[in-house]
Amino acid sequence: MSTAILTASVKKVLAEALSLKSIPDNWVQVLESKEGDYTITLTLPFPHDKSHRLWQDQILDDLSKNNTIQIHSLKWQWQSQIVAQEVPSQVKTIPQVKNIIAIASGKGGVGKSTMTTHLALALAAEGARVGILDADIYGPNQPNLLGITEKPQLQGKALIPMLKYDVQSMSIGYLLDSTETPVIWRGPMVSGALQQLLYDTLWHDLDYLLIDMPPGTGDIQLTLAQKIPVSGAVIVTTPQDLALLDVQKAVNMFKKVAIPLLGVVENMAYYHCPQCGHPDAIFGEAGGQRMAEQFNIDLLGAVPLNTDIRRASDAGVPLVIAEPESAITQVYQQIALKMAARLALNITQVKRRFAKIVVEK
Ligand SMILES: Nc1ncnc2c1ncn2[C@@H]1O[C@H](COP(=O)(O)OP(=O)(O)OP(=O)(O)O)[C@@H](O)[C@H]1O
Ligand SMILES: [Mg+2]
Repeated sequence: MSTAILTASVKKVLAEALSLKSIPDNWVQVLESKEGDYTITLTLPFPHDKSHRLWQDQILDDLSKNNTIQIHSLKWQWQSQIVAQEVPSQVKTIPQVKNIIAIASGKGGVGKSTMTTHLALALAAEGARVGILDADIYGPNQPNLLGITEKPQLQGKALIPMLKYDVQSMSIGYLLDSTETPVIWRGPMVSGALQQLLYDTLWHDLDYLLIDMPPGTGDIQLTLAQKIPVSGAVIVTTPQDLALLDVQKAVNMFKKVAIPLLGVVENMAYYHCPQCGHPDAIFGEAGGQRMAEQFNIDLLGAVPLNTDIRRASDAGVPLVIAEPESAITQVYQQIALKMAARLALNITQVKRRFAKIVVEK
């Protein structure tokens, strides 16, 4: 069956790109209208405006190696259907925000904020409607990362999110002068301020709202995870052995509040020499992979330690914007899509488990 060959080829490329063991049948449909004339329809639950061109080339390349199939014409239909995932029923949802993803880590300084910005911009580049909520009340970084110095406008009592690089954002940093950083705020105040930032912002139709979480896994983080309708979390870590313990803490925290873990990202995973491009694994190789296996969560990718990332972030023009076709931008792009695909698949798994229970009764 030639349609089966085409389907297999599409699934193979997608599975490799997203590091998935298998691709759901309903993502890919291949029709042969008359002999050799095919239409491939891909209905994917995540954005892919940018990446699909690369995948299309890879599929064609794969098919060109197969001499049992004759293709006369090939029509492509790429569709993105991003749906709102379930959240715990006791949490107040936001109708105009489909999915909230928390970007967290066990300890500070591992690059969460930088990761949040780059992943948000990568999703936007793929055609999704994206927002960022800076949940770091003590040390908000998103204003700097996004290069935003203006203050948000008010509509009644609600805040209009800032819009830059096609991404909506809200941060306490937009509201306070740097000298006013609320260093003495206590847990409940922080949690209250954060909920206000989330619920009193007029988010405009978002597929994804990424939350740049404050560092750590203490009470503040736990409360946030419980009070905000989060549908998935990503853990950022660095490759040193010591970080294992911090990842364990973050994993436990999300398990406690039953938020699906979409995966772990290794940041500053290897040194990327800007002169020669040589990757140097200063902390040893495959630490992230071992970590992922140990905690039974997926490794979404590894971002190098690279001066350009820091420089572009400091300048308020993140690398995904400054160098949209660079190798590092591609790394962020892949992580963002793996994250979005897992968010969509997680619920499928939950439903499957559910269906099984019903059958057994
Ligand atoms: N892959 C990278 N390569 C080079 N520099 C990086 C990389 N990722 C982050 N940085 C830099 O490391 C510093 C810390 O990053 P960032 O502020 O994103 O970490 P964080 O985990 O959000 O910190 P905090 O816990 O304080 O919120 C920043 O100066 C940032 O530019
Ligand atoms: Mg931060």
